[in-house]
Amino acid sequence: MKNDEWLTPPEIVRALGTFDLDPCAPIVRPWDTAANHYTIEDDGLAQAWHGRVWCNPPFGREAVKWLRRMAEHGNGIALIPARTETAMFYECVWGIADAVLFLKGRPHFHFVDGRRADFNSGAPICLVAYGEDNAEALRASGLGFYVVSSAAAPATQHTETK
Ligand SMILES: C[S@@+](CC[C@H](N)C(=O)[O-])C[C@H]1O[C@@H](n2cnc3c(N)ncnc32)[C@H](O)[C@@H]1O
Repeated sequence: MKNDEWLTPPEIVRALGTFDLDPCAPIVRPWDTAANHYTIEDDGLAQAWHGRVWCNPPFGREAVKWLRRMAEHGNGIALIPARTETAMFYECVWGIADAVLFLKGRPHFHFVDGRRADFNSGAPICLVAYGEDNAEALRASGLGFYVVSSAAAPATQHTETK
């Protein structure tokens, strides 16, 4: 999955309720993911964020910037690869987010014209909730396996991978 234009299966977003803002959406999209969208033309990171945010960010090196912003905003759900030992996970998820849900099975993302890929994501995927209401939305979604992200135990040691 080499470019950024991989869309979330709409049934995943639907299972989580309605969102006020998707700060990283395609310019031309087959469906809405939120009431308001920013695209690369607006640069979603340079804009003010409001309300309940849905964020499936550009993957790769850019993703951490979006996760930092989600953590700071504190209200919404992000979709990221379930690479739980990475620096991004330690910085923005474990002990910071309220909950993580590991999707059951690998999803098939959609092309920007709406077609569903006939291959899966190629990596495990999880959803990360910021804010208690969003944690509850994950728990109630039935999309996979739910973990509460509590603060790290004192003196926790870990080895980070990039
Ligand atoms: C992985 S796709 C997810 C699309 C959509 N949010 C969804 O969940 O289906 C990431 C999207 O971010 C957009 N994008 C990339 N850089 C951006 C930026 N600086 N500001 C806003 N959107 C951006 C890409 O064009 C792409 O549509």
